[in-house]
This record gives sequence, C-alpha cells and structure tokens, in this order.
Amino acid sequence: MGSLKPDHLRTIREAMDRGLLPRWVLTDPDIYALEQEKIFARTWQFLAHESELPRPGDFVTRWMVHDPVIVIRGDDGVVRAFLNSCSHRGTLLCGADFGNQKVFSCPYHGWTFNHYGELVGVALANQVWGPELKREEWGLRPIPRLQAYQGLIFGNLDPAAPPLTDYLGDMRWYLDLIMGRTGGMEVRGVPHRWVVEGNWKLLYENFTGDPYHVQSTHRSTVELGITPNRTLGADRKGYQVVLQNGHGVNVTLYTEIPERPFQRMPEETWPLFRRHLTPVQHDLMQRASVFVGGVFPTLSFVSPLHGTEGDLYNFLNFRVWRPIDPCHVEVWSWFLIDRAAPEGYKQAAYKGYIDSFGPSGTLEQDDTEMWARVMQASQGWMARDRTLQYQNVMNYLMGWGRVDPDPGFPGPGTAYPGLVDAVSRSTHRYWFGLLTDGADGEGDLG
Ligand code: FES
Ligand SMILES: [Fe+2]
Repeated sequence: MGSLKPDHLRTIREAMDRGLLPRWVLTDPDIYALEQEKIFARTWQFLAHESELPRPGDFVTRWMVHDPVIVIRGDDGVVRAFLNSCSHRGTLLCGADFGNQKVFSCPYHGWTFNHYGELVGVALANQVWGPELKREEWGLRPIPRLQAYQGLIFGNLDPAAPPLTDYLGDMRWYLDLIMGRTGGMEVRGVPHRWVVEGNWKLLYENFTGDPYHVQSTHRSTVELGITPNRTLGADRKGYQVVLQNGHGVNVTLYTEIPERPFQRMPEETWPLFRRHLTPVQHDLMQRASVFVGGVFPTLSFVSPLHGTEGDLYNFLNFRVWRPIDPCHVEVWSWFLIDRAAPEGYKQAAYKGYIDSFGPSGTLEQDDTEMWARVMQASQGWMARDRTLQYQNVMNYLMGWGRVDPDPGFPGPGTAYPGLVDAVSRSTHRYWFGLLTDGADGEGDLG
C-alpha cells in the first residue's frame, strides 16, 4: 500500500466523523491505487446508452477507468461487452470510437474476432499453426457483468457484484423520472470527451452534491440570461436527496405549477408524461426545474434549462468522469433528449447543451477553472500534510446537525430542503467503506 498507513485511514475516518475530508485524498497516489482495486474493480460503471447501438454489428469503444472496452450489438440483437484487447499479445483491438463491423481484425498479427468475441480467423493458420492452438480458448475476454436499466448499459468487473438494480436502489425512481418520462431518451451525436485537471471525486461531487457553487461559479451565466436564476427564491424550492451506495440527486421544484410545466418541454409531449409516470412522479415533474445528480462512482447527470436565443430548453447531459491519474479526468459527455420530442426542439436543445455543458460551454468553462484551481492549491507540502487540522481539510459542514430531512418530499431517499452537504458526506462514507472493506456507508452521518 505504499506510504499509506492505517493511521492515515484513521485520520480520514476521524475527519469524516466531523463533516470534513483531508485534502490529500484528492492527490495521493496510494489512495488512487487503492481506489482501482476496491472501487473501480467492483462498482457498476456506465458504458453506453442502448440508442448508440441500434443495429446488429453497431459498436462503441469505451473505458472502464484503465480497461478498454468494446460494446457491440450482435447479429442476434444482444449487446455484449469485451475487453478491447487482442487475446494473442494484448494489442488494443479496435481503435475506432464507434462503427458497424461484422468482425474485428487485430492490426498486429491479424487475428479476427466476431460479435460473440469468438476467434474466427488466424493469419497463416494452416502454415504455422497446428493443434496447439485451440481457437475456442482464445476468444475475447468478456466484461464479467453487463446489465441495463432504462436503456443505460453498465458494466462491472466483479463477477460477484450485486445486480445493477440493487446497486442503483432508489436511484431507479429518479432514473425512471428523467429517462422514462416520455417513453425513452436517445443519444444525439457521439459523446464529447476532453481532459481536465481534477480528481474524479471532486468532479463527481461537483455535480452530485454541490449546488452551493452555482450562485458563485456560474453567476455570469445568470447575468447573461442563458440560465435561469437558480438562487432559490420565493417561486422555487431545492432539495438534496441522499440515496444508497454514494448516489444522490438535487431536485429544484417550482412551488406552483409554472406556465410552462414539465421543464418547458413542448406541449405535445405533455400527455406522455401522464402515460409514463406514476401520479406522484407526474406531479413532481410538472413542477420540476432542474435535476442534477450522480450514480457513484463516476457517472453524473444534469437535466437543466439552457438556451442562447431568447428561450430556454431542457435536455439531459450524462457525464462519465474517467480517472486517468489522481489529478486528471477524461470527461465523457453525452447529450440525450426525449425520443418523442419534435425535431425542432431537439435541435434547439442541442444548441443549448453545446453552449452550456459542451466542451466549450460557458458553464463547463466555469467549472473546469474551479477544478483546476482546487488541484493547483492541493499539491504542495502543506496540503499533503497528513495531520488533521481545520486548514488542511475540505469543509462539508453545511447543514450539519441543523437541517432536518423533509418527510413531505414525494420521492424516495432522505431529502433535505435547501442547500446542504448531506450527499457529499454520504458519498464519502460509502467511498471509505469500499476502500477499507468496512462499514456499509449508507445514510448520512450528519
Ligand atoms: S496481438 Fe493481436 S494478432 Fe497478435
Ligand atoms: Fe457547475
């Protein structure tokens, strides 16, 4: 475990018990190594949406942190996932981001694999190979677990992992709401990706547990009129909902049904909300303004309102924060929209996405700058000092022991009104439980 000592883990535990987190957990290479083994090798990670693979032979290539993955729809219609690495000598098999292929040929020595991962072609097979090569033993290595919920395909490297539905827990209710509200979503275009300075936990937390930053980091977007004023005023109320397994969601609701309900989706889609949601979900959705949340460890989502041409549009943005080292993340960003929405709305919403959360979007730039600043100030000797003192920790005390959950919130989970750090504290506890094979990490220590 390198220089990480039991004492250091006890320091993290003690900090969490006080609503804090040591700064060095963002930069420490030993923590990062432990996260590979204890977190990324065991938890469900988002790979693709089913709409990215509509036809047999369609494939996308993705990463489960450092493991390259190929996800493909077979000619039997079933989606499978394999390690994107040739079984002969380990070469990255497919270098394309997406496409449609009958077979995949390795560029190194020419072995060829089909949709089922089977080795179906061996170069010079009759001249240089005999019975020593048993083809059935040399297929691609399958990703141990692959399951989907609401069209979202997740993989897990742990053959003994609990089912995806158990892992998602009450997050399913919110995924039903944002993904299933009009009968299904589709991905438009391909995911954008770019590299930013930041530890993956910082980015996950920014979306999943930190609505507090919006008023300051994104102030200029409100002033420009490209984002609604999200400071919780008289007409809106925010909740932070703590869910199991480090997941969480922030819900902003209008106190009355607004003139344009259902997050300003076009009127022709309104009957679909009633058809696809439960009455409780339907009532909540009528008053919804913004959802932002995450599925631990590396998936976040935001369903906001944005636009640059005099109107605001709703869309769904999925994020995978793929760690590439302790201090850098490759951001993967998908645009999703209701399949049933009119084409004109989809196009306007896509522009709203590009201008806000696309790689050059205003909100994206705001956040990227803050993440880099945290990292720049967290790598010196003082920040890496492992003694526990107030100036060397991150503060997650907002609402601690002061704000009680609101039992009147209509959805599952523990919902705190207003701005609190409850989701972050719960996420830290789950993260620590996995790292140390210890506590279940459920609930909020606050
Ligand atoms: S490494 Fe792929 S064929 Fe040799
Ligand atoms: Fe932000």
